[in-house]
Amino acid sequence: MKNKIHKDSKVELSPVIAKHYDTIMNSITFGKYNRFIYQAVQDMDIQTDDQILDLGCGTGKNAMLMSGYLGEKGGITGMDVSPVMGKLFMEKHGKDSRFEFKQERIDIPFKLEKKYDTVLISFVIHGLPHEHRKNLIQNAYNHLKPGGKLMILDYAEFDMAEMPSHHRFIFKSVECRYAFDFIEKDWKSILSEYGFSDFQEKKYMKNYTRLLSATKKA
Ligand SMILES: C[S@@+](CC[C@H](N)C(=O)[O-])C[C@H]1O[C@@H](n2cnc3c(N)ncnc32)[C@H](O)[C@@H]1O
Repeated sequence: MKNKIHKDSKVELSPVIAKHYDTIMNSITFGKYNRFIYQAVQDMDIQTDDQILDLGCGTGKNAMLMSGYLGEKGGITGMDVSPVMGKLFMEKHGKDSRFEFKQERIDIPFKLEKKYDTVLISFVIHGLPHEHRKNLIQNAYNHLKPGGKLMILDYAEFDMAEMPSHHRFIFKSVECRYAFDFIEKDWKSILSEYGFSDFQEKKYMKNYTRLLSATKKA
């Protein structure tokens, strides 16, 4: 793909892959992806009035699932660098005034007027160089209300050497080099350096993925 921000990243998707992202994910996981995302969103414990910032929101599928837990006063801001994802997000949610989309990079500093109860980062942060992950975490922190929650839905921490060989083969084939150091890091300790605490986690997909929740100090 031309004009990538980070040349080795695999979370920047080509327009064709972006357009069919949800179907591709469900096919390569033999139909397990839908159930996994549904469960993870349920585990986010979304409250009816929550304002949610979805960083690297993709097609708007996660936003659609999250909106099922929101009432009239809730809202979701999706942010993504891809115009294709923006179009898909707006096709799903454009008629609902509780949703908005911003086409922007999430891995460099940005400033929104609003503060949020929850910031979701789903399957983006593993695909960024570590210096840019730090910007992303700082962006999330800056846009949370005191007591607000950062939810990182992504790979869990695990040792590639201990994976069964067929799992290791798939992971190494589909993932970029940034993902290999993402799984080795102690994310609770990294997030605590930014002022997050009260970590909770739920694991899925044979413990290779997790929803990590961290609270900004009140
Ligand atoms: C693997 S997809 C995940 C999409 C969605 N969060 C989900 O879980 O279905 C990664 C998304 O991050 C977006 N993305 C990648 N790098 C980005 C960046 N630097 N700034 C903003 N969005 C980015 C891509 O356009 C893509 O929509």
